[in-house]
Amino acid sequence: MPAVELAPSILAADFARLGEQVREAERAGADRIHVDVMDGHFVPNITIGPVVVRSLRPVTRLPLETHLMISDPDRYLEPFAEAGSDAFLVHWEGNNNLHRTVQRAKALGKRVGVVINPATPAEVLEEILPDVDQVLVMTVNPGFGHQHFIATTLPKIRRVREMIGRVKPGCDLEVDGGIDAKTAPLVVEAGANVLVAGAAVFGAADGVAAAMTRLRAAA
Ligand code: DX5
Ligand code: ZN
Repeated sequence: MPAVELAPSILAADFARLGEQVREAERAGADRIHVDVMDGHFVPNITIGPVVVRSLRPVTRLPLETHLMISDPDRYLEPFAEAGSDAFLVHWEGNNNLHRTVQRAKALGKRVGVVINPATPAEVLEEILPDVDQVLVMTVNPGFGHQHFIATTLPKIRRVREMIGRVKPGCDLEVDGGIDAKTAPLVVEAGANVLVAGAAVFGAADGVAAAMTRLRAAA
């Protein structure tokens, strides 16, 4: 198993001090910065666009992974790539041409991952797995931060890890939603090697550095 990576999600950051918060996360040992993009259509919430990625690009050397919770991801790959995104996470749900989306992201020279929601079975990944660098298993329903971890995703994480071992060793297995010091050991034990965390990092009363130390120790 590769070393566990931490990907703080800026969704829970203070957007009035976004650059500062990302620098704090980097100093505290973050491996990537997770950027949640929502359009009020694919999910019932609206967040940010390429302009925020452009502002963050000079602030950090960490990869900016862009989680596209939007209805027509193909339309926005180029603007985000130009703004400085390093990786795209695109959903299986609602995409009739996922293979095309994945190929377009790769043609832009970016890492690409496929995301599945809590009710989506692991099996849908089988055919696309050889083409991707990572898989993201949602451990909450996408749309909001600060939600509770859905424990029924644990056996699915195990199935995805088994599938990766068989089909695409080296592919990252990331989890997103409700990850904190309590749930981190569960998902790592099930096979996750990249943990997204929003509230547990940027919402911690004792600050980002203490939160990251706690999360890393738990994982
Ligand atoms: C949820 C987003 C997550 C979210 C996780 O739709 O995709 O990345 O920020 O936040 P927490 O860690 O607070 O559950
Ligand atoms: Zn996310």
